Amino acid sequence: MGIVAIMRRTPLGSRFRGNDELGNGTMRPEDFTIATPSHSIVNTPAPPTLVEIRKLSKYYQRGEQIIPVLVDINLDIGLGDYVALMGPSGSGKTTLLNLIAGIDKPSNGTIKVGGVDIASFSESDLAAWRASHVGFIFQFYNLMPVLTAFENIELPLLLSNLSRRERRERVGIALSLVGLADRADHRPNELSGGQQQRVAIARALITDPTLIVADEPTGDLDRTTGEEILSLIDQLNRELGKTILIVTHDPKSAEKARRLIHLEKGVLAA
Ligand SMILES: Nc1ncnc2c1ncn2[C@@H]1O[C@H](COP(=O)(O)OP(=O)(O)OP(=O)(O)O)[C@@H](O)[C@H]1O
Ligand SMILES: [Mg+2]
Repeated sequence: MGIVAIMRRTPLGSRFRGNDELGNGTMRPEDFTIATPSHSIVNTPAPPTLVEIRKLSKYYQRGEQIIPVLVDINLDIGLGDYVALMGPSGSGKTTLLNLIAGIDKPSNGTIKVGGVDIASFSESDLAAWRASHVGFIFQFYNLMPVLTAFENIELPLLLSNLSRRERRERVGIALSLVGLADRADHRPNELSGGQQQRVAIARALITDPTLIVADEPTGDLDRTTGEEILSLIDQLNRELGKTILIVTHDPKSAEKARRLIHLEKGVLAA
């Protein structure tokens, strides 16, 4: 049984899945392909909007000084889309990604995800929402050094009501999916950078979130390893239908995405 089927059997509350149940209870990969490549089929209706951002601004105040970081951003991201966000250092990419992922709150404007305005959530509601709807992949992996690969991946599931057996089953499948079944007991310092990022990808995936955000996920890796990581992220989009938002400085990384958006000094450029 594949990871998608296991995840369906033990759902965690993701609200945006497609209709994936056959009458006889078996699963087909194509039932989860909720994204349609916009460039391949003409006259296909646009996928439903997952993220809807309107008049979004973010500024920081330091004493008398106001530092505008994002200015009047309007952006839609479709369900199942794969978006690369590029722009010079300091242009606000990480800030925008963190706002969409519910790590940070805007100064003005609305961010609707799945029709819900996450900017209006309390901190605790936002944390709960994030835990079940968003998977994170960071440049420096952000794994817990004292935990094994298995335990790092399992961590987000400890907040769920899954049994120990169900958790083990899911983590095992996630480890296989990222090609690390034989590294389950390794701690991060016993893994290469690429392997650590694979663990981080498995951890991002484990709660079956709708949206996966990645902030320069290949920034610390050599080109070959970076390409392997990008292929894996691509697979999450194409085979599991995950909506992906990836921040990158590398035009090669951006090529895999279906859509490219640019930030310049806090403003979205066409
Ligand atoms: N807590 C803060 N207080 C004040 N200014 C901040 C704060 N956090 C970020 N900034 C400013 O916001 C701007 C955008 O930062 P951000 O991290 O989003 O840039 P970025 O596009 O991700 O850059 P990089 O490519 O270098 O990662 C920067 O000018 C930064 O100095
Ligand atoms: Mg950044």
